[in-house]
Amino acid sequence: IGNKIGLTPALGWNSWNAWGLSVNDEKVRTAAREMSERLASHGWSYINIDDGWEAESRDADGKIVPNEKFPNMKGLTDYVHGLGLRMGIYSSPGPRTCGGYLGSYQHEDDDAITYGKWGIDYLKYDWCSYGQIAPPHPNLDEMKKPYLVMRASLDKADRDILFSYCQYGMGQVWKWGAEAGGNSWRTTGDITDTWESMSGIGFSQDKAAPYAGPGHYNDPDMLVVGKVGWGPALHNTRLTYDEQYTHISLWSLLASPLLIGCDMGHLDRFTLSLLTNDEVIAINQDALGKEARQYVKNADYQIWVKELTGGRKAIGLFNMTDKYQTITLPKTDAALKGYTKIRDAWRQQNLTAVSGKVAPHGVLLVTVSK
Ligand code: GLA
Repeated sequence: IGNKIGLTPALGWNSWNAWGLSVNDEKVRTAAREMSERLASHGWSYINIDDGWEAESRDADGKIVPNEKFPNMKGLTDYVHGLGLRMGIYSSPGPRTCGGYLGSYQHEDDDAITYGKWGIDYLKYDWCSYGQIAPPHPNLDEMKKPYLVMRASLDKADRDILFSYCQYGMGQVWKWGAEAGGNSWRTTGDITDTWESMSGIGFSQDKAAPYAGPGHYNDPDMLVVGKVGWGPALHNTRLTYDEQYTHISLWSLLASPLLIGCDMGHLDRFTLSLLTNDEVIAINQDALGKEARQYVKNADYQIWVKELTGGRKAIGLFNMTDKYQTITLPKTDAALKGYTKIRDAWRQQNLTAVSGKVAPHGVLLVTVSK
């Protein structure tokens, strides 16, 4: 109430990359239990149900109702809250979601009030079939409209609900998403668990970076670490270990919402270590809310720099090749002027230079201070 939420990027889990439309009550409870036991102490808090929870039609009063996979949404939300976590849900401004379930079109007030009653803390609002309502080439006003409508409805609910836009970057949403009431907005189409997809999205965010700030963030989509599958058949992410370090480093530098997309019941030790490094999470959660800018880009490597509170900086040196290489940001570089302390964030060790031998598609992530 007053939209003072989401001041730092959301840290949580979303059902989509693991379960797709096969998400159910039990899978959400498992995610919540695992998060509260293993991740919450590192700042993780949102449990977000993506598409697939909605019934085929509304009840006699026009109210949205869950399908048989979610017998008691209020009960589930109470369970998640009881573990000290927050609950997220998903809808579309169109009549149908991307998965073909009920959307909120012309029921926005009703749905926002229902979410409030259930105790929902986060809404992902996915364009999907709104394309059939909007003209074929919607102008900016027409693109903003369904989000402004739901924003007004959410403001009538009796709790703060973080508002996450999902319209894949249309109309350069990063330029107007904050003004249109969004706490975050997707900047691209859907991610998948390959280097091409993850790096293609992650390294193309510089244009959107200036628009991020406390309470409103660019969202380059959910994490593809751990066991993913978008449905019943899960597999381990196809990213190598080093590509996963790059993924989490880059999303942290980009001040992106970090939404784990895997089966939380089978978090292996490596995945857990990726998600519980407090020095890395602190880069993502820095209160300044700045997004990193692309500082160096050449065929072999990229360097991204994020300003942090206290005049500190986080710097990612990314190896874009499939061979080991030493990457250095010289002490004499303007970006390092006056900076004397250097810390390797993943290894949690002090360094004497911003330089290291970086693995193929890997990263050296450091913070520097005066
Ligand atoms: C779109 C979104 C995804 C997911 C699915 C659900 O593709 O971009 O993140 O929410 O819809 O159907």
